[in-house]
Amino acid sequence: MTSTARARIDLDAPGPTINRHIYGHFAEHLGRCVYGGFWVGEDSSIPNVRGIRLDVVEALRAIDIPNLRWPGGCFADTYHWRDGIGPRGSRPKMVNTNWGDVVEDNSFGTHEFMDLCDLLGADAYVNGNVGSGTVQEMADWVEYLTRGDDSPMARLRRENGRDEPWRVPFWGLGNEAWGCGGNMTPEYYTNLARQFATFAKNHGGNVLERIAAGGSDDDVRWTRVLMESAMSSHAPFPSPPPFQSISFHYYTHSGTGIATDPATEFSSAQYFRTLAAAADMERIIRAHEEVMDAYDPERTIGLVCDEWGTWWQVEPDTNPGFLFQQNTMRDALVAGIHFDVFHRHAARLRMTNIAQTLNVLQAMILTDDDGGLVLTPTYHVYEMNKGHQDAASLDARLVEVPSWDDADEPLPLLSLSASTKDGTALLSFSHLSADEDMEVTVDLRGREASVTRARVLTASVPTAHNTPADPDAVAPVPLETTIRDGALVLRLPAHAFATVELALA
Ligand code: AHR
Repeated sequence: MTSTARARIDLDAPGPTINRHIYGHFAEHLGRCVYGGFWVGEDSSIPNVRGIRLDVVEALRAIDIPNLRWPGGCFADTYHWRDGIGPRGSRPKMVNTNWGDVVEDNSFGTHEFMDLCDLLGADAYVNGNVGSGTVQEMADWVEYLTRGDDSPMARLRRENGRDEPWRVPFWGLGNEAWGCGGNMTPEYYTNLARQFATFAKNHGGNVLERIAAGGSDDDVRWTRVLMESAMSSHAPFPSPPPFQSISFHYYTHSGTGIATDPATEFSSAQYFRTLAAAADMERIIRAHEEVMDAYDPERTIGLVCDEWGTWWQVEPDTNPGFLFQQNTMRDALVAGIHFDVFHRHAARLRMTNIAQTLNVLQAMILTDDDGGLVLTPTYHVYEMNKGHQDAASLDARLVEVPSWDDADEPLPLLSLSASTKDGTALLSFSHLSADEDMEVTVDLRGREASVTRARVLTASVPTAHNTPADPDAVAPVPLETTIRDGALVLRLPAHAFATVELALA
Protein backbone atom coordinates (compact mmCIF):
# COMPACT_ATOMS: atom_id res chain seq x y z
CA MET A 1 0.00 0.00 0.00
CA THR A 2 1.10 3.55 -0.77
CA SER A 3 -0.30 6.67 0.82
CA THR A 4 0.14 10.18 -0.58
CA ALA A 5 1.08 13.51 0.92
CA ARG A 6 1.47 16.99 -0.49
CA ALA A 7 3.67 19.77 0.82
CA ARG A 8 4.83 23.21 -0.27
CA ILE A 9 8.11 25.01 0.24
CA ASP A 10 8.75 28.67 -0.33
CA LEU A 11 12.36 28.66 -1.56
CA ASP A 12 12.43 32.43 -2.09
CA ALA A 13 11.54 33.55 1.44
CA PRO A 14 14.46 32.74 3.73
CA GLY A 15 13.56 32.94 7.42
CA PRO A 16 15.74 33.07 10.55
CA THR A 17 19.14 31.37 10.47
CA ILE A 18 19.34 27.90 12.00
CA ASN A 19 22.11 28.33 14.56
CA ARG A 20 24.65 25.55 14.01
CA HIS A 21 24.64 25.03 17.77
CA ILE A 22 21.18 23.47 17.40
CA TYR A 23 23.24 20.43 16.35
CA GLY A 24 25.16 20.47 19.66
CA HIS A 25 26.26 17.59 21.86
CA PHE A 26 26.61 16.53 25.46
CA ALA A 27 29.27 14.44 27.21
CA GLU A 28 28.71 13.74 30.89
CA HIS A 29 30.80 11.81 33.35
CA LEU A 30 28.22 9.05 33.19
CA GLY A 31 28.75 5.38 32.39
CA ARG A 32 31.04 4.99 29.41
CA CYS A 33 30.54 8.39 27.83
CA VAL A 34 33.80 9.97 29.04
CA TYR A 35 35.75 7.14 30.72
CA GLY A 36 35.95 4.21 28.31
CA GLY A 37 34.29 6.33 25.62
CA PHE A 38 36.04 9.54 24.66
CA TRP A 39 38.85 8.87 27.10
CA VAL A 40 40.78 5.61 26.81
CA GLY A 41 44.07 6.92 28.22
CA GLU A 42 47.44 7.30 26.54
CA ASP A 43 48.49 3.71 27.27
CA SER A 44 45.44 2.15 25.59
CA SER A 45 45.93 -0.20 22.63
CA ILE A 46 42.98 1.61 21.01
CA PRO A 47 44.41 4.31 18.70
CA ASN A 48 44.26 7.61 20.56
CA VAL A 49 45.60 11.15 20.57
CA ARG A 50 46.88 12.06 24.03
CA GLY A 51 44.39 9.55 25.51
CA ILE A 52 41.38 10.60 23.40
CA ARG A 53 39.93 7.90 21.15
CA LEU A 54 40.76 8.73 17.54
CA ASP A 55 37.97 6.92 15.65
CA VAL A 56 35.38 8.70 17.80
CA VAL A 57 36.94 12.08 17.00
CA GLU A 58 36.97 11.29 13.28
CA ALA A 59 33.34 10.15 13.28
CA LEU A 60 32.21 13.30 15.09
CA ARG A 61 34.22 15.60 12.85
CA ALA A 62 32.38 14.06 9.91
CA ILE A 63 29.07 15.38 11.26
CA ASP A 64 30.48 18.88 11.94
CA ILE A 65 29.93 18.70 15.69
CA PRO A 66 29.54 22.37 16.68
CA ASN A 67 29.83 22.22 20.47
CA LEU A 68 30.18 19.86 23.39
CA ARG A 69 28.56 20.33 26.80
CA TRP A 70 30.57 18.98 29.75
CA PRO A 71 30.98 17.71 32.54
CA GLY A 72 27.23 17.17 33.17
CA GLY A 73 24.23 16.98 33.71
CA CYS A 74 23.73 16.09 37.32
CA PHE A 75 27.45 15.37 37.58
CA ALA A 76 28.28 19.04 37.00
CA ASP A 77 26.83 20.07 40.35
CA THR A 78 29.15 17.64 42.16
CA TYR A 79 32.29 18.44 40.16
CA HIS A 80 35.16 20.46 41.61
CA TRP A 81 37.40 21.45 38.73
CA ARG A 82 40.60 21.77 40.76
CA ASP A 83 40.51 17.97 41.28
CA GLY A 84 40.93 17.54 37.52
CA ILE A 85 44.11 19.58 36.83
CA GLY A 86 47.81 18.97 37.40
CA PRO A 87 49.74 15.70 36.98
CA ARG A 88 47.24 12.88 36.49
CA GLY A 89 48.92 10.62 39.02
CA SER A 90 48.42 13.19 41.80
CA ARG A 91 44.78 14.01 41.15
CA PRO A 92 42.41 13.01 43.94
CA LYS A 93 39.75 10.40 43.28
CA MET A 94 36.05 11.18 43.57
CA VAL A 95 32.75 9.30 43.82
CA ASN A 96 30.25 9.77 40.99
CA THR A 97 27.23 9.80 43.29
CA ASN A 98 24.71 10.33 40.51
CA TRP A 99 25.77 7.66 38.08
CA GLY A 100 26.59 4.16 39.31
CA ASP A 101 28.27 5.32 42.54
CA VAL A 102 31.62 4.57 40.90
CA VAL A 103 34.99 6.01 41.87
CA GLU A 104 36.63 8.17 39.20
CA ASP A 105 40.31 9.09 39.14
CA ASN A 106 39.85 12.54 37.60
CA SER A 107 42.22 11.68 34.75
CA PHE A 108 39.83 13.46 32.38
CA GLY A 109 39.70 17.09 33.51
CA THR A 110 39.79 20.62 32.15
CA HIS A 111 42.88 20.25 29.94
CA GLU A 112 41.71 16.94 28.52
CA PHE A 113 38.25 18.36 27.75
CA MET A 114 39.64 21.42 26.02
CA ASP A 115 42.03 19.18 24.06
CA LEU A 116 39.01 17.10 22.99
CA CYS A 117 37.17 20.22 21.81
CA ASP A 118 40.24 21.29 19.81
CA LEU A 119 40.48 17.86 18.17
CA LEU A 120 36.76 17.91 17.35
CA GLY A 121 36.83 21.51 16.11
CA ALA A 122 33.92 22.08 18.51
CA ASP A 123 33.12 25.00 20.82
CA ALA A 124 33.29 24.29 24.54
CA TYR A 125 30.13 24.49 26.63
CA VAL A 126 31.36 24.16 30.21
CA ASN A 127 28.70 23.64 32.85
CA GLY A 128 29.70 25.15 36.21
CA ASN A 129 28.84 23.85 39.65
CA VAL A 130 26.11 25.89 41.34
CA GLY A 131 24.61 23.08 43.45
CA SER A 132 27.64 22.25 45.63
CA GLY A 133 30.28 24.70 44.44
CA THR A 134 31.06 28.25 45.40
CA VAL A 135 30.87 31.48 43.48
CA GLN A 136 34.64 31.90 43.87
CA GLU A 137 35.30 28.38 42.57
CA MET A 138 33.33 29.10 39.42
CA ALA A 139 34.91 32.54 38.97
CA ASP A 140 38.37 30.96 39.26
CA TRP A 141 37.52 28.26 36.70
CA VAL A 142 36.48 30.89 34.15
CA GLU A 143 39.69 32.83 34.84
CA TYR A 144 41.79 29.64 34.58
CA LEU A 145 40.32 28.79 31.21
CA THR A 146 40.08 32.15 29.52
CA ARG A 147 42.53 34.69 30.94
CA GLY A 148 45.70 35.52 29.03
CA ASP A 149 47.84 37.74 31.27
CA ASP A 150 49.71 37.03 34.49
CA SER A 151 46.66 36.60 36.73
CA PRO A 152 46.82 33.95 39.50
CA MET A 153 44.64 31.48 37.60
CA ALA A 154 46.40 32.10 34.25
CA ARG A 155 49.69 31.40 36.03
CA LEU A 156 48.32 28.17 37.49
CA ARG A 157 47.20 27.07 34.03
CA ARG A 158 50.70 27.75 32.68
CA GLU A 159 52.20 25.68 35.49
CA ASN A 160 49.99 22.87 34.21
CA GLY A 161 51.40 23.17 30.70
CA ARG A 162 49.00 25.44 28.82
CA ASP A 163 50.28 28.88 27.92
CA GLU A 164 47.50 30.39 25.82
CA PRO A 165 44.01 30.85 27.23
CA TRP A 166 41.25 28.85 25.61
CA ARG A 167 38.13 30.26 24.01
CA VAL A 168 35.04 29.20 25.94
CA PRO A 169 31.88 30.64 24.38
CA PHE A 170 29.23 28.84 26.47
CA TRP A 171 28.94 28.69 30.24
CA GLY A 172 26.23 26.79 32.13
CA LEU A 173 25.02 28.00 35.52
CA GLY A 174 24.37 24.58 37.06
CA ASN A 175 21.92 21.91 35.94
CA GLU A 176 18.37 20.87 36.79
CA ALA A 177 18.32 23.04 39.89
CA TRP A 178 14.78 21.74 40.55
CA GLY A 179 16.23 18.23 41.14
CA CYS A 180 19.74 16.80 41.23
CA GLY A 181 21.20 20.31 41.00
CA GLY A 182 20.00 21.24 44.48
CA ASN A 183 16.22 20.74 44.78
CA MET A 184 15.67 24.48 44.66
CA THR A 185 12.66 26.63 43.95
CA PRO A 186 12.79 28.77 40.81
CA GLU A 187 12.99 31.93 42.92
CA TYR A 188 15.93 30.67 44.97
CA TYR A 189 17.80 29.39 41.91
CA THR A 190 17.19 32.60 39.98
CA ASN A 191 18.96 34.59 42.68
CA LEU A 192 21.86 32.13 42.67
CA ALA A 193 22.06 32.23 38.88
CA ARG A 194 22.28 36.02 39.00
CA GLN A 195 25.01 35.85 41.61
CA PHE A 196 27.12 33.15 39.92
CA ALA A 197 26.69 34.80 36.51
CA THR A 198 27.89 38.12 37.89
CA PHE A 199 31.25 36.65 38.87
CA ALA A 200 31.69 34.49 35.76
CA LYS A 201 33.51 37.29 33.96
CA ASN A 202 34.45 37.95 30.37
CA HIS A 203 38.27 37.92 30.38
CA GLY A 204 40.23 39.48 27.52
CA GLY A 205 38.37 38.85 24.28
CA ASN A 206 36.44 35.85 25.60
CA VAL A 207 32.73 36.56 25.77
CA LEU A 208 30.61 34.07 27.69
CA GLU A 209 27.06 33.18 26.83
CA ARG A 210 25.83 32.37 30.34
CA ILE A 211 23.05 29.80 30.29
CA ALA A 212 20.68 29.64 33.26
CA ALA A 213 19.29 26.19 34.06
CA GLY A 214 15.54 26.19 33.58
CA GLY A 215 12.66 23.78 33.93
CA SER A 216 11.81 20.46 32.43
CA ASP A 217 9.30 19.69 29.69
CA ASP A 218 6.55 22.32 29.70
CA ASP A 219 7.23 23.61 33.21
CA VAL A 220 7.29 27.26 32.19
CA ARG A 221 7.27 28.46 35.81
CA TRP A 222 11.07 28.40 35.72
CA THR A 223 11.17 30.28 32.44
CA ARG A 224 8.82 32.91 33.81
CA VAL A 225 10.73 33.54 37.04
CA LEU A 226 14.07 33.61 35.22
CA MET A 227 12.77 35.91 32.49
CA GLU A 228 11.15 38.32 34.89
CA SER A 229 14.41 38.62 36.77
CA ALA A 230 16.61 38.81 33.68
CA MET A 231 14.61 41.60 32.12
CA SER A 232 14.31 43.78 35.21
CA SER A 233 17.15 45.90 36.38
CA HIS A 234 17.84 45.54 40.10
CA ALA A 235 20.72 47.99 40.23
CA PRO A 236 20.58 51.76 40.59
CA PHE A 237 22.09 51.85 37.09
CA PRO A 238 20.54 50.01 34.15
CA SER A 239 22.20 46.58 33.97
CA PRO A 240 22.17 44.03 31.15
CA PRO A 241 20.59 40.63 31.82
CA PRO A 242 22.96 38.58 34.01
CA PHE A 243 22.51 35.51 31.81
CA GLN A 244 22.07 35.41 28.06
CA SER A 245 20.05 32.20 27.63
CA ILE A 246 17.66 29.97 29.52
CA SER A 247 17.65 26.21 29.09
CA PHE A 248 15.09 23.46 29.49
CA HIS A 249 15.26 19.65 29.17
CA TYR A 250 12.88 17.26 27.45
CA TYR A 251 13.25 13.48 27.18
CA THR A 252 11.14 11.28 24.90
CA HIS A 253 9.61 7.93 25.87
CA SER A 254 6.59 5.92 24.83
CA GLY A 255 4.21 7.21 27.47
CA THR A 256 5.07 5.22 30.58
CA GLY A 257 7.96 7.32 31.82
CA ILE A 258 11.71 7.39 31.26
CA ALA A 259 13.67 4.13 31.41
CA THR A 260 10.57 1.92 31.36
CA ASP A 261 10.56 0.36 27.86
CA PRO A 262 13.26 -1.55 26.00
CA ALA A 263 15.08 0.27 23.20
CA THR A 264 14.78 -2.43 20.56
CA GLU A 265 11.49 -4.19 21.29
CA PHE A 266 8.30 -2.20 20.96
CA SER A 267 4.77 -2.53 19.67
CA SER A 268 3.29 -0.43 16.93
CA ALA A 269 1.39 1.57 19.59
CA GLN A 270 4.62 2.23 21.51
CA TYR A 271 6.30 3.25 18.26
CA PHE A 272 3.62 5.83 17.44
CA ARG A 273 3.33 7.08 21.02
CA THR A 274 7.07 7.71 21.01
CA LEU A 275 6.92 9.67 17.77
CA ALA A 276 3.92 11.65 19.03
CA ALA A 277 5.94 12.48 22.15
CA ALA A 278 8.80 13.66 19.94
CA ALA A 279 6.41 15.85 17.93
CA ASP A 280 5.17 17.32 21.23
CA MET A 281 8.46 19.24 21.35
CA GLU A 282 6.65 21.80 19.16
CA ARG A 283 4.08 22.55 21.88
CA ILE A 284 6.74 22.61 24.58
CA ILE A 285 9.01 25.06 22.77
CA ARG A 286 6.01 27.25 21.95
CA ALA A 287 5.07 27.32 25.62
CA HIS A 288 8.54 28.54 26.64
CA GLU A 289 8.63 31.01 23.75
CA GLU A 290 5.28 32.51 24.68
CA VAL A 291 6.56 33.32 28.15
CA MET A 292 9.83 34.67 26.79
CA ASP A 293 8.08 36.79 24.16
CA ALA A 294 5.98 38.44 26.84
CA TYR A 295 9.09 39.73 28.65
CA ASP A 296 11.48 40.01 25.73
CA PRO A 297 9.81 40.60 22.35
CA GLU A 298 13.20 41.58 20.88
CA ARG A 299 14.53 38.09 21.63
CA THR A 300 17.66 39.26 23.46
CA ILE A 301 17.53 36.13 25.66
CA GLY A 302 18.00 32.83 23.87
CA LEU A 303 16.27 29.51 24.47
CA VAL A 304 18.46 26.43 24.80
CA CYS A 305 17.40 22.78 25.08
CA ASP A 306 20.60 21.34 26.48
CA GLU A 307 19.27 17.83 27.06
CA TRP A 308 16.90 15.94 24.77
CA GLY A 309 16.49 12.49 23.28
CA THR A 310 15.01 9.09 24.01
CA TRP A 311 15.42 7.42 27.40
CA TRP A 312 14.89 3.64 27.33
CA GLN A 313 15.68 0.75 29.67
CA VAL A 314 19.37 -0.03 29.86
CA GLU A 315 20.56 -2.99 27.79
CA PRO A 316 20.42 -6.34 29.64
CA ASP A 317 23.41 -7.08 31.89
CA THR A 318 24.64 -3.52 31.91
CA ASN A 319 24.96 -1.25 34.95
CA PRO A 320 21.57 0.50 35.47
CA GLY A 321 23.43 3.64 36.50
CA PHE A 322 25.28 3.79 33.17
CA LEU A 323 22.23 4.44 30.94
CA PHE A 324 23.58 2.41 28.03
CA GLN A 325 20.85 1.81 25.44
CA GLN A 326 20.62 0.67 21.82
CA ASN A 327 19.36 2.98 19.12
CA THR A 328 16.91 2.00 16.36
CA MET A 329 15.24 3.48 13.33
CA ARG A 330 12.62 4.78 15.78
CA ASP A 331 15.31 6.86 17.51
CA ALA A 332 16.41 8.23 14.13
CA LEU A 333 12.84 9.40 13.48
CA VAL A 334 12.69 11.02 16.92
CA ALA A 335 15.81 13.00 15.96
CA GLY A 336 14.38 13.88 12.53
CA ILE A 337 11.13 15.16 14.06
CA HIS A 338 12.99 17.17 16.70
CA PHE A 339 15.15 18.87 14.11
CA ASP A 340 12.11 19.89 12.07
CA VAL A 341 10.69 21.52 15.19
CA PHE A 342 14.03 23.14 16.05
CA HIS A 343 14.35 24.60 12.54
CA ARG A 344 10.89 26.14 12.83
CA HIS A 345 11.90 27.87 16.06
CA ALA A 346 15.27 29.12 14.87
CA ALA A 347 14.42 32.69 15.80
CA ARG A 348 14.57 32.02 19.57
CA LEU A 349 16.30 28.66 19.84
CA ARG A 350 20.07 29.15 20.04
CA MET A 351 21.31 25.70 20.94
CA THR A 352 20.30 22.14 21.65
CA ASN A 353 22.36 19.23 22.97
CA ILE A 354 21.33 15.65 22.47
CA ALA A 355 21.80 13.38 25.49
CA GLN A 356 24.38 12.01 24.99
CA THR A 357 27.07 11.73 22.35
CA LEU A 358 28.66 8.39 23.26
CA ASN A 359 27.39 5.18 24.93
CA VAL A 360 24.69 6.95 26.97
CA LEU A 361 20.96 7.40 26.16
CA GLN A 362 20.32 8.42 22.52
CA ALA A 363 23.93 8.17 21.45
CA MET A 364 25.58 8.91 18.12
CA ILE A 365 28.19 6.26 18.66
CA LEU A 366 28.41 3.02 20.65
CA THR A 367 31.90 1.76 21.47
CA ASP A 368 33.31 -1.25 23.25
CA ASP A 369 36.50 -1.78 25.19
CA ASP A 370 38.01 -3.92 22.41
CA GLY A 371 38.13 -1.03 19.97
CA GLY A 372 34.75 -1.73 18.30
CA LEU A 373 32.66 1.24 17.18
CA VAL A 374 29.13 1.42 15.80
CA LEU A 375 27.45 4.46 14.28
CA THR A 376 23.81 4.58 15.31
CA PRO A 377 20.82 5.50 13.12
CA THR A 378 20.72 8.80 15.04
CA TYR A 379 24.29 9.52 13.93
CA HIS A 380 23.17 9.22 10.31
CA VAL A 381 20.40 11.79 10.85
CA TYR A 382 23.02 14.26 12.14
CA GLU A 383 25.21 13.55 9.13
CA MET A 384 22.39 13.83 6.58
CA ASN A 385 21.08 17.02 8.21
CA LYS A 386 24.39 18.81 8.73
CA GLY A 387 23.76 21.18 5.80
CA HIS A 388 21.06 22.90 7.87
CA GLN A 389 23.73 24.30 10.18
CA ASP A 390 23.86 28.11 9.75
CA ALA A 391 21.42 27.97 6.81
CA ALA A 392 18.30 30.13 6.56
CA SER A 393 15.15 28.26 7.55
CA LEU A 394 12.41 28.02 4.94
CA ASP A 395 8.67 27.89 5.28
CA ALA A 396 7.85 24.20 4.61
CA ARG A 397 4.19 23.23 5.02
CA LEU A 398 2.17 20.07 4.77
CA VAL A 399 -0.88 20.60 2.60
CA GLU A 400 -2.34 17.11 2.75
CA VAL A 401 -1.09 14.23 4.86
CA PRO A 402 -2.48 11.04 6.43
CA SER A 403 -2.24 10.77 10.19
CA TRP A 404 -2.15 8.29 13.06
CA ASP A 405 -5.36 8.95 14.94
CA ASP A 406 -5.16 6.73 18.00
CA ALA A 407 -4.29 9.59 20.35
CA ASP A 408 -5.79 12.83 21.64
CA GLU A 409 -3.97 14.71 18.90
CA PRO A 410 -3.65 13.14 15.43
CA LEU A 411 -0.02 12.59 14.48
CA PRO A 412 0.75 13.54 10.85
CA LEU A 413 2.68 10.69 9.26
CA LEU A 414 5.10 13.07 7.61
CA SER A 415 7.31 15.70 9.22
CA LEU A 416 9.47 18.00 7.15
CA SER A 417 11.65 21.08 7.21
CA ALA A 418 13.93 22.91 4.81
CA SER A 419 16.69 25.49 4.70
CA THR A 420 18.70 27.39 2.11
CA LYS A 421 22.33 28.43 1.87
CA ASP A 422 24.58 29.58 -1.01
CA GLY A 423 22.14 28.86 -3.84
CA THR A 424 21.23 25.42 -2.51
CA ALA A 425 18.40 24.03 -0.42
CA LEU A 426 18.25 21.05 1.92
CA LEU A 427 14.92 19.31 2.56
CA SER A 428 14.43 16.76 5.35
CA PHE A 429 11.57 14.28 5.59
CA SER A 430 10.60 11.93 8.40
CA HIS A 431 8.04 9.42 7.22
CA LEU A 432 6.44 7.73 10.20
CA SER A 433 4.12 5.06 8.80
CA ALA A 434 5.05 1.68 10.23
CA ASP A 435 4.18 -0.32 7.15
CA GLU A 436 3.21 1.76 4.10
CA ASP A 437 5.17 3.65 1.47
CA MET A 438 4.29 7.28 0.88
CA GLU A 439 4.45 9.27 -2.32
CA VAL A 440 5.29 12.86 -1.42
CA THR A 441 4.78 15.76 -3.82
CA VAL A 442 6.45 19.02 -2.83
CA ASP A 443 5.30 22.12 -4.66
CA LEU A 444 8.39 24.30 -5.21
CA ARG A 445 6.17 27.29 -6.00
CA GLY A 446 7.60 28.11 -9.37
CA ARG A 447 11.25 28.08 -8.36
CA GLU A 448 13.52 26.19 -10.75
CA ALA A 449 15.65 23.61 -9.00
CA SER A 450 17.51 20.40 -9.70
CA VAL A 451 18.25 17.56 -7.32
CA THR A 452 21.99 17.18 -6.60
CA ARG A 453 21.70 14.40 -4.02
CA ALA A 454 18.92 12.46 -2.31
CA ARG A 455 19.35 9.81 0.36
CA VAL A 456 17.12 7.70 2.55
CA LEU A 457 17.73 6.03 5.88
CA THR A 458 15.47 3.07 6.58
CA ALA A 459 15.38 -0.67 7.32
CA SER A 460 12.94 -3.54 7.02
CA VAL A 461 11.54 -2.96 10.53
CA PRO A 462 11.49 0.07 12.85
CA THR A 463 13.30 -1.93 15.53
CA ALA A 464 16.35 -2.29 13.24
CA HIS A 465 19.63 -1.14 14.77
CA ASN A 466 23.35 -1.36 14.16
CA THR A 467 25.63 -3.77 15.99
CA PRO A 468 29.31 -4.70 15.69
CA ALA A 469 28.18 -7.79 13.74
CA ASP A 470 25.91 -5.76 11.45
CA PRO A 471 27.13 -2.15 11.58
CA ASP A 472 25.22 -1.01 8.47
CA ALA A 473 21.80 -2.52 9.16
CA VAL A 474 20.58 1.09 9.17
CA ALA A 475 22.65 3.30 6.88
CA PRO A 476 21.77 5.88 4.24
CA VAL A 477 21.38 4.84 0.60
CA PRO A 478 20.55 6.86 -2.55
CA LEU A 479 16.89 7.78 -3.08
CA GLU A 480 15.20 8.26 -6.44
CA THR A 481 13.43 11.56 -6.97
CA THR A 482 11.93 13.42 -9.91
CA ILE A 483 11.02 17.01 -10.62
CA ARG A 484 7.67 17.04 -12.38
CA ASP A 485 5.60 20.13 -13.26
CA GLY A 486 7.49 22.33 -10.81
CA ALA A 487 7.17 19.82 -7.98
CA LEU A 488 9.62 17.46 -6.35
CA VAL A 489 8.23 13.93 -6.21
CA LEU A 490 9.69 11.20 -4.02
CA ARG A 491 8.55 7.85 -2.76
CA LEU A 492 9.44 7.18 0.84
CA PRO A 493 9.49 3.68 2.29
CA ALA A 494 7.85 3.01 5.65
CA HIS A 495 9.63 4.42 8.77
CA ALA A 496 12.22 6.37 6.81
CA PHE A 497 14.25 9.54 7.16
CA ALA A 498 15.30 11.21 3.91
CA THR A 499 17.14 14.30 2.74
CA VAL A 500 17.08 15.96 -0.66
CA GLU A 501 19.66 18.54 -1.71
CA LEU A 502 18.63 21.01 -4.42
CA ALA A 503 20.63 23.39 -6.59
CA LEU A 504 18.54 26.51 -7.11
CA ALA A 505 18.56 28.10 -10.57
O1 AHR B 1 21.42 12.91 30.66
C1 AHR B 1 21.28 12.19 31.84
C2 AHR B 1 20.76 13.02 33.00
O2 AHR B 1 19.47 13.42 32.73
C3 AHR B 1 21.49 14.32 33.27
O3 AHR B 1 22.60 14.15 34.08
C4 AHR B 1 20.46 15.11 33.99
O4 AHR B 1 20.63 16.50 33.79
C5 AHR B 1 19.14 14.61 33.43
O5 AHR B 1 18.22 14.34 34.42
